[in-house]
Amino acid sequence: MMPKNGNQQTVQWMNGLSAALPRTRPIYRQLVALVEGGIARGEVPPGFRLPPERDLARRLRVSRATVVSAYRELEARGLLRGYVGRGTFVSAKPDAGSAPFAWRGKMSAAALNSNDTTVRDLVSAAADPALVSLAAGVPALDCFPTAAFQHAMNDVLGKDAAVAWRHGPTEGLRAFRAALAERFGGDPEHILVIAGAQQGLDLLARCLIDPGDAVIVDRPGYLGAIQSFRTAGARLVGWDIAGADLDELEELMLRYRPKLLYTNPTHHNPTGYTMPIRARRELLELAARYRVPIVEDDTYRELALGAPSPPPLFKLDDAHRVVIRVNSFSKMLAPGLRLGWISAVRPIVEQLSLIKQQVDPHTQNLSQLVVCELIARGVFDRHVATIKTEHRRRRDAMVGALRQHVPAGALRFDVPDGGMYLWCQLQPGVRARAVQDHARRESVMVVTGEPFYVDQGGADRLRICYTSQPPERADRAARTLARAVAAAAREDPAAPTRLV
Ligand SMILES: Cc1ncc(COP(=O)(O)O)c(C=O)c1O
Repeated sequence: MMPKNGNQQTVQWMNGLSAALPRTRPIYRQLVALVEGGIARGEVPPGFRLPPERDLARRLRVSRATVVSAYRELEARGLLRGYVGRGTFVSAKPDAGSAPFAWRGKMSAAALNSNDTTVRDLVSAAADPALVSLAAGVPALDCFPTAAFQHAMNDVLGKDAAVAWRHGPTEGLRAFRAALAERFGGDPEHILVIAGAQQGLDLLARCLIDPGDAVIVDRPGYLGAIQSFRTAGARLVGWDIAGADLDELEELMLRYRPKLLYTNPTHHNPTGYTMPIRARRELLELAARYRVPIVEDDTYRELALGAPSPPPLFKLDDAHRVVIRVNSFSKMLAPGLRLGWISAVRPIVEQLSLIKQQVDPHTQNLSQLVVCELIARGVFDRHVATIKTEHRRRRDAMVGALRQHVPAGALRFDVPDGGMYLWCQLQPGVRARAVQDHARRESVMVVTGEPFYVDQGGADRLRICYTSQPPERADRAARTLARAVAAAAREDPAAPTRLV
């Protein structure tokens, strides 16, 4: 008696139920208890598709109403979930104790799409004093102008504390938006203040992406953007940004008809690449021709360590206005501030602020007021100059230490002229995950390449943030990484050569 869409596992499961089902009434309760027990013991895991009610009823020789009642009860308990046209699936194991339902089973399908823990893991490792984190992108925080910040905060609160404590406009405080426009370009009316660039990417994903829309993203590209676009249901298509092959991009545009293109063209995360001005102009031209909005993530613009960076796409785009720019103080001042902004045409700013009000009515006033003062007093510009000098020192220390301790060829990277990262390639056959695991055992954290790819790439890549730790720590970090790389090479039978 095969169910219509049955498979071996389902048939076995039904046979087991049939043998074990007590015939005492009410039978549906017995059935609920049996199925629940099976789910609790892991005999049927989350994702398992149950047979259609009619098939199960026939196999158990009970009425269909009995099975329907059992499925309904199990759905109410959060253990099963029915999808129209697809069937009924196990959604969660029962919660411990006497809980009347499993919380996980109550969560929306959309919520369960948020299952990537990478960003959360990165930021918690960065906050753990027991770890040397080279994982999250953190600037030289020990250079933060704490005294100037305190002065500015006292002055702000002394002058008009009410502005700090009352609600503010969703778009952001007018004075702050004016200061942003003056310092970074754009028009105050076209700015939305946000709680960091990641919030901006999430808002943009909600604003622009319908499930199934194609989105072109840098390959490799910023993992948080990939996560937000993927959760919004985008079909992600990678474009090799460092190859900057505009013909390839045109082909992708023709083939996939993307809803938008996301790029981080200046001191790119993770490669450090900066797109030259000619490619920028061609990219803008293509975007205008194929009518594809560009989301330009300009987070690292100020962190050039060599020649000044070419102008942002946003500025070069005067004629068409196809660019939405996302920016943040996380890398210029501190990620803990959670302060950034989006620049875009007015209809986008308006819609974004309608979406933002639902999760965050407005970004904290106090940080806007204080950073506004820091910009006005010149503290901000002096600080950027300071961290650039410090970041150069840290980059050179890390590069020197890695060259000293890791055998040539085992970890290859270009020395970046801006941003915060060394994008490293391991020798063939050495898995980045194994290196990461070995380094973590010695309390050094790095990120592997996979989350930066929308497809299968990155298993032989590591990203090392060179700005987060003082130069004195570079030696210890590099020795640890050398040991981790060597251990990973020994471990992996596919590795062609063995390191020390
Ligand atoms: C390219 C890029 N965009 C956005 C972000 C998120 O920054 P924020 O801390 O402002 O949310 C990061 C953080 O690493 C980043 O590298």
